[in-house]
Amino acid sequence: MLLCFLGMLLLTSCGEKKEAGVTTIRFVTWKPNQPEAWDEIFRIFHQENPAIMVQAETGPHSSTAFHDLLTQKLKNRSKDADVFLMDVIWTAEFAAAGWAEPLDKVMPQTERDRFIRSAIVANTYDGLLYGIPLFIDSGVLFYRKDLLAKYGFYPPRTWDELVHQARTITAGEAAEAREISGFSGQFKQYEGLVCNMLEYLLGNGGDILSPVSGRAAIAEQPSVDAVRFVRDSIIGGIAPKGVLTYQEPESLDLFLQGRAVFLRSWPYAWEIANDPARSQIAGKVALAKLPHFAGGKSYATLGGWQVGISAFSQKKEAAGIFARFLGSERTQKILALRAGRAPTRTALYTDAEVLAANPHFSDMKEVFLSAYPRPRSPLYPALSNILQRYFSKAISDRNSDIQREAEEATGEIDRLLSLTP
Ligand code: GLC
Repeated sequence: MLLCFLGMLLLTSCGEKKEAGVTTIRFVTWKPNQPEAWDEIFRIFHQENPAIMVQAETGPHSSTAFHDLLTQKLKNRSKDADVFLMDVIWTAEFAAAGWAEPLDKVMPQTERDRFIRSAIVANTYDGLLYGIPLFIDSGVLFYRKDLLAKYGFYPPRTWDELVHQARTITAGEAAEAREISGFSGQFKQYEGLVCNMLEYLLGNGGDILSPVSGRAAIAEQPSVDAVRFVRDSIIGGIAPKGVLTYQEPESLDLFLQGRAVFLRSWPYAWEIANDPARSQIAGKVALAKLPHFAGGKSYATLGGWQVGISAFSQKKEAAGIFARFLGSERTQKILALRAGRAPTRTALYTDAEVLAANPHFSDMKEVFLSAYPRPRSPLYPALSNILQRYFSKAISDRNSDIQREAEEATGEIDRLLSLTP
């Protein structure tokens, strides 16, 4: 049983055999970037709850692919999922479909008050809580502080400054026979592309949906100009062409190998980038707010993962105990210390150990708290699918007619949104 428990992350095939007094629950999770942190979490849970065995099923890393796996199970009312991780954009869909169990009893109001408010709001649908926020994500700019210092630069505030710095550093390093690209990020056709593109749109005064009319705003000038900038100056400029196939792991690898000056990623990249066993640039990394366009303001996309319980679980009590444990301060502290994850519990932002491991948390807390949510709707996955196709086509073809593509996608989005009241 212990072996089964410890081996969970390797996708064990331990049977469903019921030992006397032991309840086995199934946890659908993704392959962690820092498995040691999760090993520790599972070990503590098992020590303290010997009557509950957690069997983990490790899904794909990509949010989009993980969504397909999990929703397939839920559509089939499968018993294979008691507890699962949920992307912050799925709460409305899971709640409206009746797939996720309301968690108001598992996480009473007094407990909820200890969380960052926006994280609780993001998990609330029709007044009920459907997910316990495990960690918050927010887009951030990582940069090589040694290289910026070498060329006399401060972290860039605008995208034009970033392009200028990237070009100067790339050329200067090439002259000393060192190959380095200017920029790395996530531009493959999947959910991460929407997160990256939203930041450019917002930083230019654009948006996906107009906050006033609720209708698509991607064909408006600021949004179209932002996409054109990504196509011409990022993809066709300072980033290697390969970024069009990058999700988080590939974009981070390039940076870890010392082959990119800037990286747009999520807070977890800090811990890995500073781990000498995994990174060639440990100690040479810093992070900053994402740039914006001249006259605009810096924005970060709100991301993050929650713990949900399946409405079809037949072991809801044990599932509740495990979900509560995952959302506890202790678990979040382990994730912050060993995996650089930004907590959703406010107390951890003044915890000395957490701040020692993540010195940027005090400066970046405001960025985390003000991160911008993607549209909240049960139809979000369908909306995202349209956006992913549009952005991908627009940025990967140098001759794309961005305005026309944006108008086509607008038509699709408005038709989709007219399906909901
Ligand atoms: C991160 C974010 C999540 C987002 C995903 C996109 O995992 O936490 O919200 O959807 O990246 O790749």
